[in-house]
Amino acid sequence: MTIGITGATGQLGRLVVQKLKKKVAAGDLVALVRNPAKAKELGITVRVADYDRPETLAPAFQGIDTLLMISASEIGKRLKQHRSVIHAAKQAGVKRIVYTSLLHADKSPIDLASEHLPTENEIKASGIPYTILRNGWYTENYTGSIGGALAGGAFLGSAGDAKISSAAREDFADAAVAAVTEKGHEGKTYELAGDTAWTLSDLANEISRQTGKNVSYRNLPEPEYANTLEGFDIPKPIAGAIAGWDTAALKGGLYDDSRQLSKLIGRPTTPLSETVREALQSRKTSG
Ligand SMILES: NC(=O)c1ccc[n+]([C@@H]2O[C@H](COP(=O)([O-])OP(=O)(O)OC[C@H]3O[C@@H](n4cnc5c(N)ncnc54)[C@H](OP(=O)(O)O)[C@@H]3O)[C@@H](O)[C@H]2O)c1
Repeated sequence: MTIGITGATGQLGRLVVQKLKKKVAAGDLVALVRNPAKAKELGITVRVADYDRPETLAPAFQGIDTLLMISASEIGKRLKQHRSVIHAAKQAGVKRIVYTSLLHADKSPIDLASEHLPTENEIKASGIPYTILRNGWYTENYTGSIGGALAGGAFLGSAGDAKISSAAREDFADAAVAAVTEKGHEGKTYELAGDTAWTLSDLANEISRQTGKNVSYRNLPEPEYANTLEGFDIPKPIAGAIAGWDTAALKGGLYDDSRQLSKLIGRPTTPLSETVREALQSRKTSG
């Protein structure tokens, strides 16, 4: 069985490829990428598959049985890009699509659902057997801000005491590997989230505990948080989106207690403390 991985040069895709190589022969794996120069060290066959150049897709998908379709990364462009992928998969005779969607995409208050849910529906309408992995937030989305929190003595956000059931990117990579390599996932939609929910105050406390420095959580109104992010050189639309995701979290957008992720990967999800530890460690080693 040949497995193709789109987005194989991304952070999730790279982890998936590393993990798949431990489970299946490298010769059965194909990295589907827009920039082959970035894929050299993956150690598997590489084919050009650029979502923005639909003519590259069907040829790249020839002979692929299971396509791990890692969602594209440019917000607002993705539905069109995903449609091209699904159309090409149909043309190429792909036998199953495994798609990385959004937690509770059918009812999520997070604006990203407006691209993920129609993508799920188009996959279903294509008639290609599918597995939908509705991924919650990566814990790394937050630990990337630890440097700023330590510098300013506060972790900023607009999520109040929202419960966030995040998991490590590594956990979601294991889930993707299970979904593409194991039997029994066809026609299934999984809500994937961390075993233990936490709040941004919990995160600030954990950073304080591990560093011995005083970091508190400072909750800001959404527009003020967006302005603050812009002040950190984050482009206006992205700053607005990030602040909006925090207030969507207050409506339950990042919470799930079904533990389907740990069931799928056969182990508990990575605790917040561990991902914080790794982030602090990599800050030390990088300077
Ligand atoms: N659950 C979460 O918390 C979360 C957070 C962020 C993103 N996401 C979603 O999950 C996906 C994977 O996450 P990630 O952390 O691996 O993101 P990432 O590191 O940004 O990787 C995105 C991948 O998509 C590829 N890509 C983008 N545009 C493309 C195009 N036009 N044609 C072909 N490939 C294209 C990128 O290729 P290059 O390597 O050439 O750039 C990269 O490999 C993201 O794309 C996004 O949809 C989820």
